Amino acid sequence: MNKTDKNPFDSIPTTIKTERLELRCLNVTKENAELLFTMFDGEKPKDYPFTAIAHDISKNNVLPESPQDMLKIMERDNGWLGNTGRIYYVFHESEPIGWTRIFYWKGSDTMQISQMFLVSKVWGRGFASEIYKTLDIIGFEKLGVNRITAQCDEKNIGSSKSIKKSHFTLNGVCPDGYMYEQPDGTKLFGNQEIWSKLKREYEQNGK
Ligand SMILES: CC(C)(COP(=O)(O)OP(=O)(O)OC[C@H]1O[C@@H](n2cnc3c(N)ncnc32)[C@H](O)[C@@H]1OP(=O)(O)O)[C@@H](O)C(=O)NCCC(=O)NCCS
Repeated sequence: MNKTDKNPFDSIPTTIKTERLELRCLNVTKENAELLFTMFDGEKPKDYPFTAIAHDISKNNVLPESPQDMLKIMERDNGWLGNTGRIYYVFHESEPIGWTRIFYWKGSDTMQISQMFLVSKVWGRGFASEIYKTLDIIGFEKLGVNRITAQCDEKNIGSSKSIKKSHFTLNGVCPDGYMYEQPDGTKLFGNQEIWSKLKREYEQNGK
């Protein structure tokens, strides 16, 4: 896309309510970073072996340790989104519990879910599946894309299961598709599952 192109997500509401959740676009501010940082209260880095969310994106097993770290993550993520993406922060009962980043790729008429992140205290309650349903509506019904794609480490069972259960098809596994840097600097590679759902599949059986 040219810099002058409109962001395809501009027409999508910045706040979306689902059955149990609220997805909100938030400005990158100190106050919002402080609010989002509260979700990490009691969370342990060792529970996140497949998620590079620290402001140094290459490192896994690292969570933000302060509101300032959270602000850096927000700045980085919003910088990446540029004119082709959006980030929704996820709230449950008015508390922040995670986020999801989405991008539109014009060349393949695809919406990519580049990360779904929820804090461990809410895992296993079907929240990810509820968010995938909403992203289907954004992608297929509002933007009208031909394909939605998601990826995860093949060892990330919770993520793989939540994507499969949301009617995506596994297209293949990319060997060493991920590189993770451990806090001690050791580099690890992980195999990356590539999942997709086509508009015609959604219309036939995914809704
Ligand atoms: C991946 C993630 C978003 C899934 O969220 P979630 O709300 O727990 O997902 P859902 O409840 O919709 O579905 C998860 C399914 O996997 C199962 N599951 C979760 N962890 C599992 C594990 N370690 N082994 C086996 N099954 C597991 C759950 O029981 C559930 O299955 P069920 O519906 O049959 O009970 C969440 O675990 C997460 O944020 N993890 C950390 C960040 C991450 O790795 N993100 C993915 C990056 S690609």
